[in-house]
Amino acid sequence: MSKFDLQIEKKDKIISKLEILLASENVSNLKTRKYHRNVESKRFKWMHKFFEELYNASFERIDEIAERIRILWAYTKWTFKEYLELSIIKEEDKLEVSESDMFDNLAEDKLAILDLMKKIIDLASENGDVWTESLLSGFVEDYEKDLWMIRSMNK
Ligand SMILES: [Fe+2]
Repeated sequence: MSKFDLQIEKKDKIISKLEILLASENVSNLKTRKYHRNVESKRFKWMHKFFEELYNASFERIDEIAERIRILWAYTKWTFKEYLELSIIKEEDKLEVSESDMFDNLAEDKLAILDLMKKIIDLASENGDVWTESLLSGFVEDYEKDLWMIRSMNK
């Protein structure tokens, strides 16, 4: 305990939830990059680009979540072994995935991560962690918008 510690109740609990979010976002990022490369479709170029936009936004979120954990004065997990243990979503282990399944899988993962983020927002808000609350609220906007697009494209 240092005199410079941020006065946030249940900080350790918030950090451990952020670790789960960081792990899940990393697994989602890897899955999206795989789809970016492996998609085969008449609209390949366009899907390739769309997945690239998703993983680029995800890279930014990963950095911001990890930095928030550091700002709360904890170290972040750094290996995929740890990410896979913590992640609430599964990695993609199939080589060939249909275009429609790619969209369904991404939408399912986004919904699960959205639910996790809303729980962390509640926890942060109850314990005076304003930054975590506002950071994740911004991510909720991104996620809900992504979900709208993914569902609209998979009709
Ligand atoms: Fe690429």
